[in-house]
Amino acid sequence: MKKSIHFRVNGIDTAIEVETHQMLLQVVRESLGLTGAKFACGIQVCGTCTLLLNGKPVSGCSVLAVDADGSDVLTVEGLAKDGQLHPLQEAFMEFGALQCGYCTPGFLLTAKALLDENPHPSEEEIRSYLAGNFCRCGCYQEIMRAIQKVAGR
Ligand code: FES
Ligand code: FES
Repeated sequence: MKKSIHFRVNGIDTAIEVETHQMLLQVVRESLGLTGAKFACGIQVCGTCTLLLNGKPVSGCSVLAVDADGSDVLTVEGLAKDGQLHPLQEAFMEFGALQCGYCTPGFLLTAKALLDENPHPSEEEIRSYLAGNFCRCGCYQEIMRAIQKVAGR
């Protein structure tokens, strides 16, 4: 069954028809062409599919697109503004906080949500907030340093 939904995606009002069983990640990637968020585990464990829904991190693989009706969605493509990378993106590059990059969009969005909530988190708070994001390349130390730099620590 199809349903029309209206939401804001990266600041742009968007209306789209979706299947009621479709997940938000699938709609964002396949219908809107925003392929930054990645599919991996599909069971809300790894964080590669992270999107911000009304400013909070969600697993796009496990949220029905119809439940995003009326919401504000941010994908990694919406992080840079006017051709200027977000400070977290700059810091990830500076500290080499990625190898294959598969996990990076999820880490960036989760870190953004954390810093929006708590601009100066402790190391413990960063680790705890990012506990649902996995990096199979093992860049955890570099990711931590990058986020700490933006957090001013
Ligand atoms: S693909 Fe969604 S949490 Fe792993
Ligand atoms: S950089 Fe490869 S999974 Fe994180």
